[in-house]
Amino acid sequence: MSVTWSQPKLRELCKKHGIYITAWGPLGTYGEIWGSNLIMENPTLEYIASIRGKTVAQVALRWLYEQKVTMIAKSFNKERMKENLQIFDWKLTKEEAKLIAKIPQQRRYQGNEFVSPSGPYKTVDELWDGEI
Ligand SMILES: NC(=O)c1ccc[n+]([C@@H]2O[C@H](COP(=O)([O-])OP(=O)(O)OC[C@H]3O[C@@H](n4cnc5c(N)ncnc54)[C@H](OP(=O)(O)O)[C@@H]3O)[C@@H](O)[C@H]2O)c1
Repeated sequence: MSVTWSQPKLRELCKKHGIYITAWGPLGTYGEIWGSNLIMENPTLEYIASIRGKTVAQVALRWLYEQKVTMIAKSFNKERMKENLQIFDWKLTKEEAKLIAKIPQQRRYQGNEFVSPSGPYKTVDELWDGEI
């Protein structure tokens, strides 16, 4: 789960059944060849970060915190580790939350290799139960 894959349907189901959510790769696994720049180079997050004097990573992590999910952000850099922890003494405004809600959503891993005309999942929609 992340700002670019917020999964409201799944989150609602988890809430109903008392399942706690953890966001793996909350910064989009930025900088890795298997990762994505969709979060860390997102214009909406860059805008909010600039007007609030925060970093894009902090805005993305704060949003997750406000969704009441845990998150596992990884950094090998001491300064970035500290930066990623500076999310507890400020809040996103309602306007900023509304802007974030408009960020286009995209599942990073589509699972195309599990889809086949002769297999149990004939389309990506079937594989993911509609939420893709
Ligand atoms: N993504 C998954 O599907 C998945 C699956 C299983 C386990 N995990 C585990 O979940 C943890 C986090 O996932 P992840 O590493 O995939 O992704 P992530 O936390 O979304 O992104 C980590 C990347 O972002 C960079 N980064 C971290 N903080 C930053 C900041 N403030 N500014 C700029 N860049 C920053 C890191 O670089 P630097 O290190 O150079 O700061 C690293 O390249 C890892 O321990 C991983 O093993 C993830």
